[in-house]
Order: sequence, then structure tokens, then C-alpha cells
Amino acid sequence: MPSADEPFSLVIFGASGDLTRRKLVPALFALYATRTLPEPFTIVAVARTEMSHEEFRRRMREAVRDHGRVQPPSEYVWERFAQALYYLPGDPKDLALYTELKAFLSDVEQRRGGPANRLFYCATPPSLYDDIVENLGNSGLAQSRNGWTRIVVEKPFGHDVESARALNRQLRRYFGEDQIYRIDHYLGKETVQNLLVLRFANQIFEPLWNRNHVAHVQITVAETIGVETRGAYYEEAGALRDMVQNHLLQLLCLIAMEPPVTFDAAPVHDEKNKVLAAIHPVALDHIDEAAVRAQYGPGFVEGRPVVGYRQEKGVAPDSRTETYVALKLLIDNWRWASVPFYLRAGKRLAKRASEIAIQFRRTPHMIFRRHPDGVEPNMLLIRIQPDEGLALTLAAKVPGPDLKLGVVKLDFKYGEVFGGQSPEAYERLLLDVIHGDATLFARGDWVELAWQILDPVLRAWARDTTSPIPVYEAGSWGPPEADAFIARDGFRWRNP
Ligand SMILES: NC(=O)c1ccc[n+]([C@@H]2O[C@H](COP(=O)([O-])OP(=O)(O)OC[C@H]3O[C@@H](n4cnc5c(N)ncnc54)[C@H](OP(=O)(O)O)[C@@H]3O)[C@@H](O)[C@H]2O)c1
Repeated sequence: MPSADEPFSLVIFGASGDLTRRKLVPALFALYATRTLPEPFTIVAVARTEMSHEEFRRRMREAVRDHGRVQPPSEYVWERFAQALYYLPGDPKDLALYTELKAFLSDVEQRRGGPANRLFYCATPPSLYDDIVENLGNSGLAQSRNGWTRIVVEKPFGHDVESARALNRQLRRYFGEDQIYRIDHYLGKETVQNLLVLRFANQIFEPLWNRNHVAHVQITVAETIGVETRGAYYEEAGALRDMVQNHLLQLLCLIAMEPPVTFDAAPVHDEKNKVLAAIHPVALDHIDEAAVRAQYGPGFVEGRPVVGYRQEKGVAPDSRTETYVALKLLIDNWRWASVPFYLRAGKRLAKRASEIAIQFRRTPHMIFRRHPDGVEPNMLLIRIQPDEGLALTLAAKVPGPDLKLGVVKLDFKYGEVFGGQSPEAYERLLLDVIHGDATLFARGDWVELAWQILDPVLRAWARDTTSPIPVYEAGSWGPPEADAFIARDGFRWRNP
């Protein structure tokens, strides 16, 4: 753990943007106000927009007011934090900026406690990562000096296998793998971490956690929002790249992996990679057996009318980009052979919810004559957001003279049990980078494997330029084609 005598500097590239305002600075302030941020620290914000230090501090004060989990208990506390914020205008593509940054850092670090560990955060559009890394390398800023030097890269990490490999190569030209932190904020969520605790700190689940007892698994990340102002970005991405390649495959790995020897970066990453390596390759020529894509049409979300995807600003009227995807993956290993994992992500769905449903098998034989077909099999539901918690369904006798069975739910709600607000994912993850703990980050080889799994789907969809894309009504649970897709295996979607 860094102590008070280990100063650090954080440089944020693209600091005039949305991520810095909504997530990074509010998270840094929350850490500071709760006395978890190592001190002394310096934050240098870099972007092309012209701004003074004072103007940046003013904007960040507003950002914390509007988006902060923790508000300043007094203006004095804010002022103390704000004294560590600096703004350096410049183009991240321009090498001269880095010479200036180097001198600026040395100067400010000298005044604020001496040479510091350094963390560079790429919060620009991903098209700039290459230049930022190159310039950090050529200016000598990538090299660790007295302390550590680390770099954080935001998602999306590449656009396909080739671009992910190229970005990994570029990063590794100047940084060691132990200096690189590929962030997936899903892994910083309390409930995602709790998933590991549930699996590996309880004895009762492990004997059931396999093909003998689990019929199938559903992982759902549903959003009610559409593409908002990011139509042009989304046209290039789509649901598979935007959600499945990172968040959903990470969740699948946490559910499916073998117990790591310890909860440390290398063993956890190794186990996650083994899961991806065991995923049965999707057949390019039979893509419909593995994947469904769709786009939202007009409809009603939370009571208000909304336009369809093709009518959104920045979206082509004949766009073929998917706003919904359902996938079926099989894991060819001893534990999971023939257990389908269904992954589903979509925009403009009926409810904002991320959850994992572990559906257990039916009882082998029913002794209760009134229920020859049995009752709903047990299900373990892990709610990631909202209403974070766990629920387990059980069959129970309905009170009355007959022996009638019903389903009851054991429900644990995080908020009710522990009270208070959980820290934001970015708080946890920023602190982990500072502490040098990469357990909750994506390793380079994991990212490449993840793209490899999706590659046949991306290629098949790109190749098919004529068959109609299914449309689902905004505010629904997706297209009928997705219901038919899972029904083929005798299952149905669990809609949150
Ligand atoms: N926003 C989120 O909640 C979120 C969530 C997860 C991941 N991410 C990822 O985090 C990164 C940053 O997200 P963001 O939403 O903050 O992005 P953003 O607002 O689009 O961009 C951040 C900043 O980058 C600078 N920039 C944009 N184009 C540039 C160019 N061509 N050359 C030089 N600088 C340029 C802009 O600052 P100047 O014009 O002042 O230079 C802009 O304010 C992205 O990779 C995004 O995918 C964001």
C-alpha cells in the first residue's frame, strides 16, 4: 500500500471530455474526501481546449456537484483538493506537448513533495491511443524512474482481433505488461466482485456449479437508453463490440472459471483465459445458430415515445448496425460441456438491468402427483444493477389442505443489508491502479482471445448485406427472433 511518503501524479489525456467530468474526477474526489487517496498527489488534465487551471477547477467543482457520490463537506475540503488540479492545454498528437508536460510535471512535483510515481490515463477517443503511447515513449515519459509509471487504457480496446493485437503491440513497445491497465468498469462494480466471493468463499455452491446441476446460464445487460448523442460512434461499434466483447465476456469468465489459486492478478487472469480458450468456435457458415442481431424501432420507453435506431441523429437510414444481440456459447471443458451460456445485450429495452441467471436442472423424478411435470427448477439470480443482490428460487408448499407447490424466493439486497452507498466502480479501479493491483483489469491476451471468439460473428454479419435485420419495438424485451432462438433449446429468456 502506498503511504503518505509516496507521492503520485495522474495525467489525464482528453480531460475536457465526458468521462473525466462524469466519472474520473468525481471518483478521485470521493477517494480524497474519504481519505483513501494517497497523498501528496497531483492531477494534470490535458486536452486541446484552451482553459486556465482556475477554469478547469471551476468545471470540476460543477462535475462533482452534478455527478459526485461524495460531496465536499465544506468548501475548504474542495479547495484543498482543487489545489492539486492543473490544466495543460495541448494536442495529444503533438510530441512538443510531451516535452512541455515533462517539464511541467517535474516542476509541480518538486513543489508538491518531490519526484512522484506517475499514472497516464487515456480518456480520449481510442483513435488517439497509438499517438499518445508513441509520444509517451519518445519523450521518455513511459520509463519508470525512481518510482512506478503506469498507463490506463479505456475501452473499446480495438475494433477487431487485428486492431486489438496492433494496440497491444504498440503498448508493449514502450510499456511492460505490468505497467498496462486495460479498464473495464464492470469489474469494479461491487456486485461483480461479490460474484467471486459468492463462488469462492462459500462451500455450498461449488458442488452444484457444473454440468450435472446447471441446465443453462443467461447473462443479460439491458439498457433503456438509445444511442443518445453518440449515433456516429455507435454506427461503427454496435452491441457486440460495445457490450459483449468486454462486459459480458468478463462476466461469463467469472461465472465459468475454475477457482484461481489466490485472488491475485496472474492466477485470476490465467483462469479467465482458460475459459475463453475452451469456448467452442462459432461456425461462420451457421451464424444463425449462435447469434441473433436486431435494431430497435420506434416505441415507448418509460412512458415516452422514442424514435427508432435508423431515425437517430448520426445513424444511416439503411444502417445494419445491431442495437441488440443474443449469443449462445458453449464451453468445451469438463465442468461445462453442453451447458449453453446465453449472452444478451441491448439498447431501448424494457428495463435497465444487468443480471446473471443460473438455471438449475429439474428434479430427476417428481413424487407429488398434482405436479407430474414438476415445478419451476431452482434459479440463482445475481443482480448486478440496479437492486444489487442475489436471489435463489425454491419450490415450497402453498399453505392449504392440498399438496400444492409454488415458488418462493430467498432474496438478499445489498443496499438493505449493508446500507449506505457502495463506492463507484471507478473509485475502486483507480485505487487498484495506484496500488499496482491488476486483478480487476483485462490482460492483453484476454482481450485478443475475446475478439477471436466474436470474430466469426462479426465477419458473418459484415458479409451478409441483404437479409433484413429484425426490428424490436423500443421498450420491449427484444425481437421475437431472439425468443425463438432460445426456445429451440427448450428454454426462455428470464426478463428482469
Ligand atoms: N464517457 C463514458 O462514460 C465512458 C465510459 C466508458 C468508456 N469510455 C471511453 O473513455 C474514453 C473517453 O470518453 P469520453 O466520453 O470522455 O470521450 P470524449 O468526450 O468524446 O473525448 C474526450 C476528449 O478527447 C479530446 N479529443 C476528441 N477528439 C480528439 C482529437 N481528434 N484529437 C485530440 N483530442 C481529441 C476532446 O478534448 P479536446 O477537444 O479539448 O482536445 C474530448 O473532450 C473513450 O475511449 C470512451 O470510449 C467513456
